[in-house]
Amino acid sequence: MRYQKIVILTGAGISAESGIPTFRDKDGLWSKFDLEEVATPEGFARNPDLVHEFYNARRRDLLKVEPNAAHYALARLEREYPGEVLLVTQNVDDLHERAGSKRLLHMHGELLKVRCEACQGVFPETGAISTKTPCPACGAVGKLRPHVVWFGEMPFHLEEIYRALQECDLFLAIGTSGTVYPAAGFVQVARRAGAWCVELNLEPSAVTDLFHEHHFGPASQVVPAYVEKLLAEARKSR
Ligand code: APR
Repeated sequence: MRYQKIVILTGAGISAESGIPTFRDKDGLWSKFDLEEVATPEGFARNPDLVHEFYNARRRDLLKVEPNAAHYALARLEREYPGEVLLVTQNVDDLHERAGSKRLLHMHGELLKVRCEACQGVFPETGAISTKTPCPACGAVGKLRPHVVWFGEMPFHLEEIYRALQECDLFLAIGTSGTVYPAAGFVQVARRAGAWCVELNLEPSAVTDLFHEHHFGPASQVVPAYVEKLLAEARKSR
């Protein structure tokens, strides 16, 4: 088997064909909403109701969509590949878990969870919340926030992610523009650690030159094809 440890980074592009808009493409979320207003701690402090409305709408939209062939292919890779596979996603949707992925880290948080700023409890939430919703644990009112990482906040699980990047021998980046750090810098860490780095994206990302290999096209096509190739190679070398 050529690779013992695989780390996969996914971004909004993997969920685009499921019907979730990306951030920076034409018609992306950041062309319609001001990210300073809806995706920063300062924006939330200024106008929490607007921020709740934004995430309530995204939560509602998420419940209407399904995983696509790319999500299912990565879940299959985790199940069938004889080595270790760790999936790190910047996406706050739950399409990877609905497709069956288990070893999964949500570095930018999860849309279907909320957090209490008073007691720090994290709770599942599929509906709408407002500044009037009490915390289900401590009862504090006006303290719930989306459990997502905003600009200027520290992503989750970084220690575990960097450890895995240092140890991996194959790094895949799928459907991400390579413009938001620290995730955009993962390829550099993996490459320095000696990993083969592969970009699967609709078009070259901002950090495309750091990858050894590229497959450009829609995720629903290039990801299943690449997974099939990895599994076939692993079968042959058994
Ligand atoms: N298949 C593959 N790639 C696609 C597809 C598709 N069907 N559609 C779009 N893409 C690619 C685009 O070409 C682009 O490179 O997905 C990428 C999406 O880029 P962004 O919108 O910047 O999304 P992402 O990289 O995940 O953003 C990172 O920024 O605001 C934040 O916190 C948010 O996690 C997000 C972070």
